[in-house]
Amino acid sequence: MSVLEVLKYPHPVLKQVAKKIDSIDQDLKVLANNMLETMYKAPGVGLAAPQVGHSIRMVVIDTRPKDDDGNFTDEDMTELEKAVTYPLVLVNPVITKKEGTIKWEEGCLSVPGYVEEVERAAYVEVNHSTIDGEEVTLKADSLLAVCVQHEIDHLDGKVFIERLSQLKFDRIRKLIKKNGYDQPEA
Ligand code: NI
Repeated sequence: MSVLEVLKYPHPVLKQVAKKIDSIDQDLKVLANNMLETMYKAPGVGLAAPQVGHSIRMVVIDTRPKDDDGNFTDEDMTELEKAVTYPLVLVNPVITKKEGTIKWEEGCLSVPGYVEEVERAAYVEVNHSTIDGEEVTLKADSLLAVCVQHEIDHLDGKVFIERLSQLKFDRIRKLIKKNGYDQPEA
């Protein structure tokens, strides 16, 4: 497995609508594993294929909290979050149901150094294929719902700062233009 380079906003690949995946082959499985390694190393809780330069509809997610020793724990997880087998690899995810609203402080490996509150659906159902080609439905709330929506946004060419008010977006965009990501000012 290898750690991949994460593209930074506003890289053009991050703005493309990613292509549907027609077949799951060994190359795709290797990419999924490399994406997981890249996400864990960062560390992050989700990563979408366009962030590592592949404009295809696949995301990896692991939102499990960690204890003081750095081990995964299910403390503070919702029942729906506990019901999931981690890590998640979602191929061709499609949101089929959205309910309620939730606000969460989001960050992104492609916009390092910036954290902002974003409003999203509090509950989502997502049809997707597993990396083994099985068609399943994921039911998610809390952080997992937030993360799934954030990652699917990447597949549609959107980063989280584009979900903010025009004022906040313009401010962050300006800071990125001025400072790049070497010395980000949040
Ligand atoms: Ni992101």
